[in-house]
Amino acid sequence: MSAYLTAANRLRIVKIEDIQQETPTVKSFTFKDDLLSKAKPGQFIMVWIPDVDEVPMSLSGISPYACLICVKKVGEATKALHQRNIGDYIGVRGPFGNGFRIVRGKVMVVGGGTGTTALTPLVGSLAEEDVQVTFLLGAKTRHELLFRNRIQAVLSKVKCDFQVATKDGSCGSKGVITDLAEKYLNKEEFDMIYTCGPERMMYKMLLLSERFQTPLQASLERLMRCAIGICGTCVIGKFRVCRDGPVFTGEQLSEVKEEFGHFKRAFNGRKVKL
Ligand SMILES: Cc1cc2nc3c(=O)[nH]c(=O)nc-3n(C[C@H](O)[C@H](O)[C@H](O)COP(=O)(O)OP(=O)(O)OC[C@H]3O[C@@H](n4cnc5c(N)ncnc54)[C@H](O)[C@@H]3O)c2cc1C
Ligand code: FES
Repeated sequence: MSAYLTAANRLRIVKIEDIQQETPTVKSFTFKDDLLSKAKPGQFIMVWIPDVDEVPMSLSGISPYACLICVKKVGEATKALHQRNIGDYIGVRGPFGNGFRIVRGKVMVVGGGTGTTALTPLVGSLAEEDVQVTFLLGAKTRHELLFRNRIQAVLSKVKCDFQVATKDGSCGSKGVITDLAEKYLNKEEFDMIYTCGPERMMYKMLLLSERFQTPLQASLERLMRCAIGICGTCVIGKFRVCRDGPVFTGEQLSEVKEEFGHFKRAFNGRKVKL
């Protein structure tokens, strides 16, 4: 069946059941949707804000009872969503994309900024496996550390090491999270690195994964319109992020290194520096 006609691509109207202010610029929104409750960690959805726009968002909570998106206020659509109230309606399509591949053994999870939202359901799935998790959480400042308590609570079920780094040193070690990742990789071996966050951060994680010969899975963001591989707004090299990703392996990212970490595309298709 064409991707256009699938049940996932049909717009469903859902009621906002809860709203939480997570950080000064980030709110999470809870709603119910049957299809999304069966999504895989790392898949994404399209959220339609009536009269404004439709934008891609990761699912940061997936359960039969409630789905959660966590939205940073950056522009017109996200600002409009932040002004919505409990009981208001939004539209959703999805789930789209591939999601993370779950492995067993010893894994490192590296999250930065709102990228952490896509990693939260991953941590839930990892905690059900035979894994040892090193979770490294980074943000500019302590007020922007997302889902710290939630992630720590989920990881309490497994052997884990949870560390924080902030650029201003207001929580955890001072500096960027990739420096902390490098320290760990220098002394320990991992079976997989999972990462989501600013692209420059993920690019550094790609370089580290190559240097330490550790497999990597990274979740990418690009402009998205159709989310089903038709419009081409989300291209990176030979890949369409909505259809071939948003999660890519280190091998795949090495093939698009001239773009990954350096450029994204604007809505007119022109390359813009990251
Ligand atoms: C797979 C995926 C998952 C994402 N998950 C989250 C998430 O969990 N939480 C979150 O806060 N944000 C997430 N984003 C980013 C989010 O989609 C953008 O912040 C949002 O679209 C901005 O819209 P705006 O109208 O508020 O801002 P605008 O003023 O339109 O743009 C601000 C910036 O947002 C980006 N942007 C704008 N439109 C789009 C679009 N259609 N697709 C992608 N990026 C766009 C551009 O880089 C632009 O420079 C995700 C993006 C992708 C591709
Ligand atoms: S968003 Fe249209 S091809 Fe990916």
